[in-house]
Amino acid sequence: MREVSKSFQAGKKVLKKVSLSIAAGEMVALIGASGSGKSTLIRTIAGLVPIDASSDRSNISAGEILIGGTPMQRQGRVTSEANALRSRVGVVFQQFNLVPRLSVLTNVCLGFLGQMPRWRGTIGRFTKAQKLQAMRALTRVGIAEQALKRGSQLSGGQQQRAAIARSLVQGSEIVIADEPIASLDPSAARRVMDILAKLNREDGITVLVSLHQVEYALNYCPRTIALRDGEIVYDGPSSALTPAFLGELYGAESEELFLPRVVDTEVASVVSWEERSVQAPPRTKVRDAAMVGSAA
Ligand SMILES: Nc1ncnc2c1ncn2[C@@H]1O[C@H](COP(=O)(O)OP(=O)(O)O)[C@@H](O)[C@H]1O
Ligand SMILES: [Mg+2]
Repeated sequence: MREVSKSFQAGKKVLKKVSLSIAAGEMVALIGASGSGKSTLIRTIAGLVPIDASSDRSNISAGEILIGGTPMQRQGRVTSEANALRSRVGVVFQQFNLVPRLSVLTNVCLGFLGQMPRWRGTIGRFTKAQKLQAMRALTRVGIAEQALKRGSQLSGGQQQRAAIARSLVQGSEIVIADEPIASLDPSAARRVMDILAKLNREDGITVLVSLHQVEYALNYCPRTIALRDGEIVYDGPSSALTPAFLGELYGAESEELFLPRVVDTEVASVVSWEERSVQAPPRTKVRDAAMVGSAA
């Protein structure tokens, strides 16, 4: 995305000329205090919220969002290509990801709708092949045995995993998750992050995940983008995000970002994070930061 601004009310920019580029196959964390613009950023990338047109008439300064080179948003408009693009982008939200009264299997099959003729999608009949594929996706996220329950019967973490399975059947090359673990307990949160990391590693799916808590960014994502008041204040290796650095970035808010909800030591995930990171991270720093996150 290039120079993307977004205001919901005139004169109050929630995103201020944000530019960033994510390569295929990356796993990137988006961090920032509440209200910093994470959800808005994610929604603009997913084409769910239109970005601002330029304030003058020239349009020269209007921002744009491209996905794989194709514009999702340009000159303040979601483009006509957006529908086709949306099927390549799976979105996972903090909650309300499933239709409560539909079975989990059907919820996952909803990921096929973008590829189906409208009339068939409307009556909600899925083929046996599609159901099998949905079952395989549920198996990959580890909840195949929940397939026939209603969406509302799943725990929060299981619902998130079903939402990830849905983006798998959708054929998403990109998964954007907006605080997918915010309302989960630590072990459910880890399972969801493990699955995102696995899809990134094994399928090459590009992952952008917003996280309220920095320790998950440190443990799972080689790169972190930090937002403050609608501006990028950091974009680089997560290994450089020491508590001291975050303190500098966020001031008093940094405590909120480091609130430790994970009690047990996360040795395994730190190790897997180290294996995944593109450059060899400065080991001591990573360890220190992770320890602060989990030990306090
Ligand atoms: N639909 C909306 N209408 C008006 N203001 C909004 C809307 N969505 C978000 N905002 C405002 O934009 C700012 C950033 O919000 P958001 O993107 O939700 O941040 P975050 O996800 O980091 O908490 C906040 O000040 C919020 O009140
Ligand atoms: Mg948000």
